[in-house]
Amino acid sequence: MTPKIIKVCVGSSCHLKGSYDVLEAFKAVLKKYQVEDKVDLQASFCLGHCAHGVSVSGEEFLLHGVNAANAEELFTTEIYPKLFKE
Ligand code: FES
Repeated sequence: MTPKIIKVCVGSSCHLKGSYDVLEAFKAVLKKYQVEDKVDLQASFCLGHCAHGVSVSGEEFLLHGVNAANAEELFTTEIYPKLFKE
């Protein structure tokens, strides 16, 4: 199975809003849910939604306002079900 992609925007606006912390939070969440080898976590250039960063996207989803505190909740409610739907 090809890895699913999660892109965290590290454009300048999102960077200022904490992209690095979001990346670290997702790393921990992927490990916790044992999908590290099934997901390719990437840093991405501006996703075009700077006013609502931090933006996180994938083929199946686009999220805004992501931060280290809500990363796990968004992963379990918005990302995981879409990436791993049967
Ligand atoms: S800098 Fe992240 S959406 Fe533009």
